[in-house]
Amino acid sequence: MTGLFPDRAGPGAGRCPATPLYGPQLDGDALPQLYEELRQRHGPVAPVTIAPGIDAWLVLGHRELLRLTREEQDFSHDPRRWTLLREGRVPPDSPILPMVGWRPALLFADGQQHRRMRAAVADALSRVNGHELRRTVRTAAERLIVSFAERGEADLVPHYARRLPLQVITTLLGLDDRTGQQLVQAIAGTVAANADSVNASRRMGAILMRLIEEKRRAPGDDVTSALLRHPARLSDEEVLHNLVVMFVAGNQTTVNWIATTLRILLTDPGFRSSLAGGRLSVDDALDLVLWRFPPTQNFPARYATRDLRFGGQDVRAGDMLILGLAAANTDPEVLPPGGRPVVGNRSHLAFGAGPHTCPAQDPARLIARTAVDTIRHRLPDMELSVPERELAWVKSPWSKGLAALPVRFTDPRLSLPDAAPHPPAAPQGERR
Ligand code: HEM
Repeated sequence: MTGLFPDRAGPGAGRCPATPLYGPQLDGDALPQLYEELRQRHGPVAPVTIAPGIDAWLVLGHRELLRLTREEQDFSHDPRRWTLLREGRVPPDSPILPMVGWRPALLFADGQQHRRMRAAVADALSRVNGHELRRTVRTAAERLIVSFAERGEADLVPHYARRLPLQVITTLLGLDDRTGQQLVQAIAGTVAANADSVNASRRMGAILMRLIEEKRRAPGDDVTSALLRHPARLSDEEVLHNLVVMFVAGNQTTVNWIATTLRILLTDPGFRSSLAGGRLSVDDALDLVLWRFPPTQNFPARYATRDLRFGGQDVRAGDMLILGLAAANTDPEVLPPGGRPVVGNRSHLAFGAGPHTCPAQDPARLIARTAVDTIRHRLPDMELSVPERELAWVKSPWSKGLAALPVRFTDPRLSLPDAAPHPPAAPQGERR
């Protein structure tokens, strides 16, 4: 395959053909092997294509990923530096655009601009009351369990993991259930990059603007109100786009984290017996997932601010670099092949690192831990209802999530004083 820059260095140039990170041959199971092949062939930084015509560098080395995330002066977050975009070489319908298009939010800013928005977002998240959050998660989880308990079986991806973070994050932001569902559909439509995307993006903007106006008028005890009253004095537009980032960054990642942790608890005999014997905790299972199956396996992107030698490659100013979070976690320098992460070791890179590291690690862990604990206690004899080899990952170079997790159970414990038996509406396309 010819790279985009045959006459110069850069991803896919000359002697180093870029490897596609997408396509029908790459199902979710094939990617870990591909990372190792890339590491063998190119070292810690490899040329890849992430969509038709879009070349980038995939950073696979643990040490290199730390440098990529920490050294903002060399690696910017601002997609307006991206050569392919500046030169009009990214097709307007490219699936990558909705993920990396610039918006006035912390994820796309560097330096002072970033610190200003980050302070507001981090402060707002740190004000979330842990007891209340746990209660919100438990109540929502118990309602979901009640909605399928009588059937004696469920698919824990669509019926549980995919619904729970959504409900919790909408509550955190101060949206009611119905508006939250509308927002979810509008965001899904926006990133789908199809004919309805522009309309979906308008609907998303309108819902969030209404929320912002409402919270300016009558502030509440929620993340949106905390953002609005923060001394960083974000404009309404900035609040809107930072809310979108929180929603998009927080929803699918937490869904994946919950479902994959449940899979480990259901299938890993060592873990099952250890949990019963009390040596390993749900937190250990959550950590194992962050090491082995990070919910975001690859994250776009950084842009080189100057020509530089990086991980043995000639990277040019304006090249795109992808954070290879899953590959960096299995870098033989930090984790020997086949080795198991040491319990309590959190030097994985599932949450990124440096100034943009995920600011929601504590609330996200609390949501995931409560979700897992609640269902384990309510359905104590839950077991997988298909052979483990039939469990498949969703096909995506970005997200690492299970497509399905079918279980059966006979003895639901449903003494639920505070859980009303009203199943919340399923997101569109998931009703059965
Ligand atoms: C309540 C749930 C969550 C919320 C609200 C949330 C929010 C955010 C926000 C606002 C950012 C941008 C930070 C910045 O640019 O300064 C971010 C970054 C990120 N988050 Fe989260 N997040 C959540 C859960 C998760 C989970 C469960 C994971 C994976 C385990 C995760 C992984 C990441 C990663 C990899 C980044 C990018 C770091 C980088 O660019 O260096 N997040 N998150």
